[in-house]
Amino acid sequence: MKPRLFMTREVFGDVIDKLSGYFDVEVWDKFKEPPYGVLLDKARGVDALFTLLTDKIDCNLLSSAPRLRIVAQMAVGFDNIDVKCASELGVYVTNTPGVLTEATAEHTWALILSIARRIVEADTYVRWGEWWRRGTAWHPLMLLGVELQGKTLGVVGLGRIGGRVAEIARAFNMRVIYYDVVRRRDLEEKLGIEYVELEKLLEESDIVTLHTPLTPETKHLINEERLRKMKKTALLINTARGAIVDTEALIKALREGWIAGAALDVFEGEPLNPNHPLTSLKNVILTPHIASATLETRRKMAELAAENLIAFSQGEIPPTLVNPEVVQKRRPGFA
Ligand code: GLV
Repeated sequence: MKPRLFMTREVFGDVIDKLSGYFDVEVWDKFKEPPYGVLLDKARGVDALFTLLTDKIDCNLLSSAPRLRIVAQMAVGFDNIDVKCASELGVYVTNTPGVLTEATAEHTWALILSIARRIVEADTYVRWGEWWRRGTAWHPLMLLGVELQGKTLGVVGLGRIGGRVAEIARAFNMRVIYYDVVRRRDLEEKLGIEYVELEKLLEESDIVTLHTPLTPETKHLINEERLRKMKKTALLINTARGAIVDTEALIKALREGWIAGAALDVFEGEPLNPNHPLTSLKNVILTPHIASATLETRRKMAELAAENLIAFSQGEIPPTLVNPEVVQKRRPGFA
C-alpha cells in the first residue's frame, strides 16, 4: 500500500500526477485553505502533508497525527510550522529555498521602483481621469518621485533574497548597507556592501527592505521606536513577513510623516481587509503576498516540495530539510 498524502491545495497537475506514483494522494481542491478543523482531521489519517504557509501546523496538530512522518511545505518561510515540536516527534519538515530567490528579489525591486516613482498613483491619475480633468499634459512639478541613483539601500537580512536584492542595487548605482545577525564578510567584498548595526541602517537608509524570516526575535523588529529613527524621506519595503513590522506603528509613521511611504507584499493578517487603515493611505503600495508568484517559480516550488516528499519515500534525506536534527530521531522513509 502506498503512503497517504494530503495536499492542502491544488498545484500543477503534472506535479500531482508524479506524486501519485508514490503516494495515495488526496487534494484539497478549494481556492481557500482548509479550515484548521479539517486539517486536523486529515492529518490524523495520513503519512505525509504537502502544505502552504497559510496552514497552521502546530504542536497540537502534529501530536494528534500518529502516522505523520513528513510535512513538505511549498514556501521558503515556515513560521506556520512548529518545527521544534516536529523534530521532537520525529516528523521531517522541508521547505523550498533557492527556487524563489529571483522572483522575490524581482518583486522587491518592482515595489521599490513603483513606490519611488509613484507608479500606482500615476496609473490611477490617468485611468480615473484626473490627468484629463486637469487638462495639463505635462508640468514640471507633476507626480514627482525620487531617484535611486546615489541613494542608500538598507537590507535587513542578508540571506539568499536579501543578497540578490543587494546585488541588483548595483545596477542603480546605489550604496548598499545591510544588517543581519550573521555577518557576511564574503558578500561584503563580493557585492561591495557594508555591514552596519540595525539602528544605523535605519538612520542612514533612503530605502529599507526587509528579508528576515519571521521568528520570535524578528517579530515587530520594525517597531515604533525604530520607525522614528528612519529618515522622513525614507521608504519601507516588506516582502518577507507582515509581523516583522508593527503595523499599528507603521500606520502612525505613514500618517504622521515619520517616513515617506511603504510598499508591502505581506501583512500581519492575510488576506488584508479592504477597510484596513493601510488601504486608505496614498503613500502606500499593497500587493497580496505575490512576491514569488511567477509561473516559473511557483512551478519550481511545487516540484521541489514534491521532490522532498519523493526522496523521503525512497528512504533518502530530503534535499531541503529544515530540521536536520530529526534524522537522529527517525530514519527517512515510511517503513
Ligand atoms: C512565501 O512567502 C514563502 O515563504 O515562500
